[in-house]
Amino acid sequence: MTAAVTADGQITRDRDEVVDWSRDLPLFRKQTMGCPVIMGSRTRRTLAADLDGRQMIVVNRNTDPAAVLHQLNSEQCFVIGGSRTYARFAPWLTHVYLTYHPLVFGAGVPIFTGLTHSLNLRLEKTIAVDEQQRIYQYQYSVLEP
Ligand SMILES: NC(=O)c1ccc[n+]([C@@H]2O[C@H](COP(=O)([O-])OP(=O)(O)OC[C@H]3O[C@@H](n4cnc5c(N)ncnc54)[C@H](OP(=O)(O)O)[C@@H]3O)[C@@H](O)[C@H]2O)c1
Repeated sequence: MTAAVTADGQITRDRDEVVDWSRDLPLFRKQTMGCPVIMGSRTRRTLAADLDGRQMIVVNRNTDPAAVLHQLNSEQCFVIGGSRTYARFAPWLTHVYLTYHPLVFGAGVPIFTGLTHSLNLRLEKTIAVDEQQRIYQYQYSVLEP
């Protein structure tokens, strides 16, 4: 999964917000290009356009995550949000990429909503997204439970 996150762990101020504060869109594009991207119906509604070069898979509350993953014709895919969708796919995540932004919302939507499964992570590497603003993507692998 990949997400842009504030310093207080929010991915958006509210569920209808179009995220316009993220600095990692060029990196997001590069990393996801050619891969299927899985998103929730609400996130789909916030996108102004299709994501070119990527199969877009839009899920809803009735979607079986295991069935979606089973049908993929690709070694790698990205779960791109939002909060409920990250939580629903959490049991299958192998990597968690978080780009922390120097913002505090105080309230909003956390990375995961409705998580039933805790994750143990190991930081594998950090990538500079914006050297001037000191914004980095933290790449974690998910450890076996
Ligand atoms: N910062 C980032 O990197 C980032 C990335 C992606 C998205 N976002 C932001 O995240 C926000 C959307 O996140 P989100 O979590 O609200 O939506 P979401 O995960 O995009 O989509 C909502 C999903 O949850 C389902 N759902 C809705 N109500 C439910 C319920 N009561 N119980 C179970 N499932 C339910 C929906 O199904 P139905 O269609 O059946 O209702 C849909 O599958 C937007 O503001 C978007 O801009 C931020």
